[in-house]
Amino acid sequence: MPPKDTRIAVLGAGNMGSGIAQAFATAGYRVAVRDLTDKELQRGRDAVERNLNRSLERGRIDADKKAQILSRIEFTTDLTAAVAGTRLVVEAIFEDPKVKQALFAELATVVPKEAIVATNTSSLSVAKLFEEFPSPERCAGLHFFFPASVNKLVEVIPGPATSPATMEFLVSLCYGIRKIPIRVRDAPGFCVNRFFVPFLNEASRLVEEGVANIATVEAAANELLGTKMGPFELMNVTGVPIAFHSITTLGNAFGEYYRPSRILKEQFDRGEKWNTEGEVHPSAVDDVKARLAGCVIGIASRLVEEGVATAEETDRGARIGLAWKKGPFELLNSLGSISGYEHVDKLHRRWGVTFPVSPRLAEIAISNENWPLSTVRYDKEAPIAWVLLDRPEALNALNSSVLKDLAHAVTQAAADPEIRVVVLSSTSGNFAAGADIAEMVKKTPADSLAYTTTGHAVLRQIETLDKPVFAAVDGYALGGGLELALSADFILASEEATLGLPEVSLGIIPGFGGTQRLTRLVGPARAKMMILSGNPVKAPEAYDLGIAARIVPAERLREEARNLALTIASRAPIAVKLAKQAVDGGREASLPSGLALERQLATYTFTTADLREGMTAYLEKRKPKFQGA
Ligand code: COA
Repeated sequence: MPPKDTRIAVLGAGNMGSGIAQAFATAGYRVAVRDLTDKELQRGRDAVERNLNRSLERGRIDADKKAQILSRIEFTTDLTAAVAGTRLVVEAIFEDPKVKQALFAELATVVPKEAIVATNTSSLSVAKLFEEFPSPERCAGLHFFFPASVNKLVEVIPGPATSPATMEFLVSLCYGIRKIPIRVRDAPGFCVNRFFVPFLNEASRLVEEGVANIATVEAAANELLGTKMGPFELMNVTGVPIAFHSITTLGNAFGEYYRPSRILKEQFDRGEKWNTEGEVHPSAVDDVKARLAGCVIGIASRLVEEGVATAEETDRGARIGLAWKKGPFELLNSLGSISGYEHVDKLHRRWGVTFPVSPRLAEIAISNENWPLSTVRYDKEAPIAWVLLDRPEALNALNSSVLKDLAHAVTQAAADPEIRVVVLSSTSGNFAAGADIAEMVKKTPADSLAYTTTGHAVLRQIETLDKPVFAAVDGYALGGGLELALSADFILASEEATLGLPEVSLGIIPGFGGTQRLTRLVGPARAKMMILSGNPVKAPEAYDLGIAARIVPAERLREEARNLALTIASRAPIAVKLAKQAVDGGREASLPSGLALERQLATYTFTTADLREGMTAYLEKRKPKFQGA
């Protein structure tokens, strides 16, 4: 995460610009907001104050905090002053490509060389916007969702030349301001609007065709998606014109199915809101649900197939950005793939090529399986397998799915001969904030026994893996999160990490091996100090206590983890495996038994070709080429 003294410039003080500036300032960053006139700046300042006053009334912040946030935002009409010394510029003016490009041309002459430039857009091509910009590798798109000060979702969109370092910076900055970023390809509607806007349009089409009245569509949509506001009420809040313009843009890109319905156009032309009053007709609810589900699942499965986003990120986008209880793929899995497919196919038969059925969806339906979704990402970078916890919205809290997905990923790494080292880490800036409290609270003693038994089995699988596995820990590693890290061979922690076993503060005790592994690692006194107090420690103290084997600056965690993994992978594989066995096997044994084990394993290494290779290479002053034999 970029340090808090990083200066950020936001161009545009409208709804989005002021909300974005507020999000940065709330997270502790200093922000310069620039707009063309004092009047527009004043409007932006008023919007921030209004939002903060609302938070104050709801008791989310106090007057001091409000003053601090405001003091971090300066407003200016001077572009050069706004961007001086800045590390990031977020352009958030209105959605006109010509005006945005003209601003970028001006910006190119004054922005510091090393600054990253992002455009906030919900509908424009990032590639086109930065076509003329002198250093496109430092440019990308950010799509903050309305209201930007509150909504946690941000789509991060690389252009064709965007460097991986720029993407990493933006993703980690989003986590740093408590947002949930999803990486999305530069395609019309990006990820979420690609299915959300047609969902609004489909709702209006259902009314236009007389399938149901507005009140029934609202009720059916809320039932289907677990929302509080249906599509029409949402359009009333965010603006019918926005829905109309967005669907028109998608229609131009994808054809007939995506064109605005007649009544949406009429409503736009009249400049009126929808009248959502009326009686709900229960007999029409199922038909409405089927159409809306078909629309959302059909489009989402296509966009995943096109590589716009992953299924997991698409679901996350819907849950976080739109407050749906289930994303399109979770919805599909809950309906069953056969009926999900049928709803999609029905729309396809009507709309033809502009509403194609994803071949993957058809395959899944034929075998009557679920669309595979995982809470753990498995990134193979041979000889390293990165096993990355991927539930950022719950700080990677470990629930039953995470345990299952972890076991699957570890089994995959174990079975792959190209993998020599496994690194356990996360896709976001937090390792894991414990077992999932929302899931645990519902458990009976019998459920809890089953849960801890599964937890023990998965963590034991990691501990006894015959390949080295270490945890690269950033942010929170609490409760089950720390217990998971303790099941690895060792912990490499970022200086910013917080490690602890706070279970007693919830009325439980560590149940994924914490009482046993921590005690063996640091001794009973230190383990009890942490477990009985429940107090977490910061990484430097964790290092002093012997919990973390090494600590590194947060921004270097991934690189250091990679270097360390590559070093281990460069050593003789059998020797590495046996050394791990000697340490682990000897830990519980008496010294004479441990030494006997070491003797036995050391002798075994003298039967390997790798020993001859290692020693000959040393004598010949060259690098060894180990075969693992
Ligand atoms: N189980 C379930 N959900 C969890 C969780 C857990 N262990 N830890 C965090 N989350 C969820 C939060 O409920 C929140 O969800 P929401 O946005 O839907 O409300 C989301 O993750 C973000 O957490 P939040 O609390 O808003 O972040 P924070 O930065 O303010 O605080 C912590 C971070 C870690 C201090 C705080 O989340 C916490 O105390 N978590 C529980 C830690 C714990 O007791 N672990 C041991 C469990 S055995």
